[in-house]
Amino acid sequence: MSTSLKHFLDIHLLPADTLRGILTSAARLKTAQAKLGSSGQPLAGKTLAMLFEKPSTRTRVSFQVGMQQLGGQVVVLSPDSMQLGRGETIADTARVLSRYVDVIMLRTSGADKLEELARHATVPVINGLTDESHPCQIMADIMTYEERKGPIKDAVVAWSGDGNNVATSWIHAAGLFGFELRLACPASLQPSSKALAWARDKGARVSVGTDPVAAARGADCIVTDTWVSMGDAAGSRHEMLAPFQVNESLMSAAKRDAIFMHCLPAHRGEEVTESVFDSPQSVVWDEAENRLHAQKGVLLWCLT
Ligand code: CP
Repeated sequence: MSTSLKHFLDIHLLPADTLRGILTSAARLKTAQAKLGSSGQPLAGKTLAMLFEKPSTRTRVSFQVGMQQLGGQVVVLSPDSMQLGRGETIADTARVLSRYVDVIMLRTSGADKLEELARHATVPVINGLTDESHPCQIMADIMTYEERKGPIKDAVVAWSGDGNNVATSWIHAAGLFGFELRLACPASLQPSSKALAWARDKGARVSVGTDPVAAARGADCIVTDTWVSMGDAAGSRHEMLAPFQVNESLMSAAKRDAIFMHCLPAHRGEEVTESVFDSPQSVVWDEAENRLHAQKGVLLWCLT
């Protein structure tokens, strides 16, 4: 993999000051967009290829609109419309796409596919979600937290639910942005041991348990995600995760002004009740909007 390329593969692979720079740029772009209706065209003449092996609403639309707002163009691809779906390798696909476009975003199941793409691409590669992590989402989440509550450093964030790919990105964020993260997950849906080991080495304040109320006590923010992520079998997940539902009772364990976050799509009445999801404490629409601004920051960092 070329070390000179600015890949955005996972936040724990980047220095904290680089991530802070991207967030500062994202906030500036958001304000410029609101004031002027245009943030200039710094990516004029550049093309983003987006390759989706899994469905997407937010990632797809926010990257497309973000790239266009920055003056660039987008090509949206799926394996079944490409030779990739008929056996052409990821490595060869990376080599070919790199001759046409300036940056590639991939949403895929396997982190190994993302790594292979980045190893053989000669343009920057962005992680648009793998089964292991969701770094673009967490950039939008940190941006949203700080807009609402100020610096996230030393805040307390509680995760209640499946220890999935988004939970992994929250673990990485705790180590990089200096907040306390308390995860409450069923015993058989614990977060990535690799991410937890990274957090331990980093000296991050990350704890894991099975009691959502203990995790939420005095928290500034409660986060959850869908009970059945893309590619997972439902199995007995609903029964296992029912005690981790974010409801008014769980929110009442947190600070009175705590916020509720969810990367979406949500399943109302499952991982979160309608009363919390639609409450003034819920910041889920800001989170979704901030995907646009945070990813514009990522694109600018990758390409300039
Ligand atoms: N949160 C998120 O990544 O949404 P999409 O799956 O719709 O892109």
